[in-house]
Amino acid sequence: MSRDWRDEIGELRKELRRHEYLYYVLDQPEISDAEYDSLMRRLQQLEAEHPEAVTPDSPTQRVGGAPREGFVKAPHSSAMLSLDNALDEGELREFLRRVDTLLGGEPAAYVCELKLDGLSLAVHYRDGVLAQAVTRGDGAVGEDVTANARTIRSLPLRLPEGAGNLEIRGETIMTRRAFERLNASRDEQGLSRFANPRNAAAGSLRVLDPTITASRQLDFYAYALLADGEPLRATHWEALAELERLGFKVNPHRRRCTQASEIFAFCAEWEARREQLPYAIDGVVIKVDAIAQQRRLGWTAKAPRWAIAFKYAARQAVTVVETIEVQVGRTGALTPVAHLRPVEVGGVTVSRATLHNEDEIARLQLQIGDEVVVERSGDVIPKVVRVRAPGRERRPFRMPAACPVCGGHVRREEDEAIWRCVNSSCPARLKESILHFSARPVMNIDGLGEALVDQLVDRGMVHSVADLYDLTIEQVAALERMGEKSARNLIANIDRSRANPLPRVISALGIRMVGERTAQLLADAFGSLDAIAAADVEELQQAEEVGPKVARCIRDFFDEERNRELVERLRAAGLQFTQERRARTGGPLNGRTFVLTGTLASLTREEAKRRIEAAGGKVSSSVSKKTSYVVAGEEAGSKLDKARQLGVPVIGETELLSMIEAPGEA
Ligand code: IVH
Repeated sequence: MSRDWRDEIGELRKELRRHEYLYYVLDQPEISDAEYDSLMRRLQQLEAEHPEAVTPDSPTQRVGGAPREGFVKAPHSSAMLSLDNALDEGELREFLRRVDTLLGGEPAAYVCELKLDGLSLAVHYRDGVLAQAVTRGDGAVGEDVTANARTIRSLPLRLPEGAGNLEIRGETIMTRRAFERLNASRDEQGLSRFANPRNAAAGSLRVLDPTITASRQLDFYAYALLADGEPLRATHWEALAELERLGFKVNPHRRRCTQASEIFAFCAEWEARREQLPYAIDGVVIKVDAIAQQRRLGWTAKAPRWAIAFKYAARQAVTVVETIEVQVGRTGALTPVAHLRPVEVGGVTVSRATLHNEDEIARLQLQIGDEVVVERSGDVIPKVVRVRAPGRERRPFRMPAACPVCGGHVRREEDEAIWRCVNSSCPARLKESILHFSARPVMNIDGLGEALVDQLVDRGMVHSVADLYDLTIEQVAALERMGEKSARNLIANIDRSRANPLPRVISALGIRMVGERTAQLLADAFGSLDAIAAADVEELQQAEEVGPKVARCIRDFFDEERNRELVERLRAAGLQFTQERRARTGGPLNGRTFVLTGTLASLTREEAKRRIEAAGGKVSSSVSKKTSYVVAGEEAGSKLDKARQLGVPVIGETELLSMIEAPGEA
């Protein structure tokens, strides 16, 4: 019965590390997100009870650091130099010849690796624990970005027993998918787009607030293993294998070659296949394998003589915009896409390029028929860079007045560059709305991930989120990569979601500008979905924090016939359309006292206080021994110091919310 909490903490950490490795490094999860979360919550709970046991390598400590003022400079153990480039086969041949000459004709083996387009990072482990991460900077001195790097899930916080002091160098990248998502959300917030995944990765690693880095889903691929600034293994090939053993992600697309022809074949193969990779590459790195030979070859002032980057061809070309079509993305955003006279750009035929939005077309002063420069930057969707010459018979382009997919209304908010379709059942928007609907803070349907949603929509099994409630185990079990058991679980999770309270149902509808908080306030103010649907713009603004813009979005939503149909079907499916009054005592936080300090990420002070009290907890203004938890946000001040002095557990907003969300475990 009374297992020592220390043992349990130790086992939970081990379990969580193993599952993080399976998920983030190997991409082969063994447990569901919900199971992972519950292990994590149990560990958080134990650590909150025993704050003295918290160690920096605990899986709970990925996003621990508070935002900082600036980055501290940190010197590198040995220079982080760049690579010389070979821009064509001739230059690559030249490199191989030079190596051969310098080695006096001794045979050399080479390792070919993909050249990931991100930014390099040196990560130091002390006694096997992640201690410091430093950007390349000028090669001699970089910036300490440890708190941010810790949030990269494929970067282990702790290495296997006996690893000691090591330095791992590698590339921090953002996948194209994460990049597109980030830009889509920036569009939505009226922020400027990142030009390519590399800039986005760099921007995400060099922000002062680690919670931002954490949200950007960076990835890390290791390519060098050092101790005291020197390679640790006799060959680079062995070092890569060792890095894998240590739990790092090492790019699987690598080859050890002894013939020049193999090297050329590798370069050619990946030039052709690069579009299939989930991340951008800009070439291949070719390295002499034996470290002894690397040492003999040495370095020039700016690059090693034992390695070269074979860069893929320039990726701009000139062509003509034949027409402009409007596509509807997953968020309902209308994106103008230029149809081009097909042209080869860096080995790929390009016939379409994104124009992003109406303002971008205006900025380019682009009209249909113009001659333009197109570019494939960072391997993302090609884009039009500029107009090279106006077409002789050019025609201006206008955004459509209705959604080109469903014919529904479109709207452009004053401070946004994007037009969007307001019909949430528009097929183009469907996938995104299902993912939103099933997300954890919304209807919390575990197991309904992107791959499954794609199948459900592409096979015509789901035409609206309401169809989820009609799915059967047999139907789901018949899908790719689904078994009887996971199908059964999914259907059970969908069933269970019918009991979710009204605020979740409101936010599940995916009404623009209505997130969790607004949904809660609307539920509080109106008490039922029908009352909200019936309210006019004036009445809606009676709800706390609902201004004219939000009210307009809500009204637009319910004015759309299709959305009203959706609401009726959700009612028929048995979702909660009225507010159930929550008991104020006996809640999950009953008997606990909280002190708030600093600015929380999403909740205001007032809101946090309200939520704690609604869950049965108390909020006090000063820290004492009786304080159960201090909830610290950005720029937390002396209360945080006091908490540390008194050994009062410090938690963040996420933990607070999970205590409120997971009664019985807090
Ligand atoms: S080796 C001195 N291997 O390319 C050895 N670099 O242009 C330098 N890069 O700064 C690094 N993938 O950021 C190496 N497989 C790979 C790489 C790689 C991407 C980046 C790295 C480096 C830049 C040089």
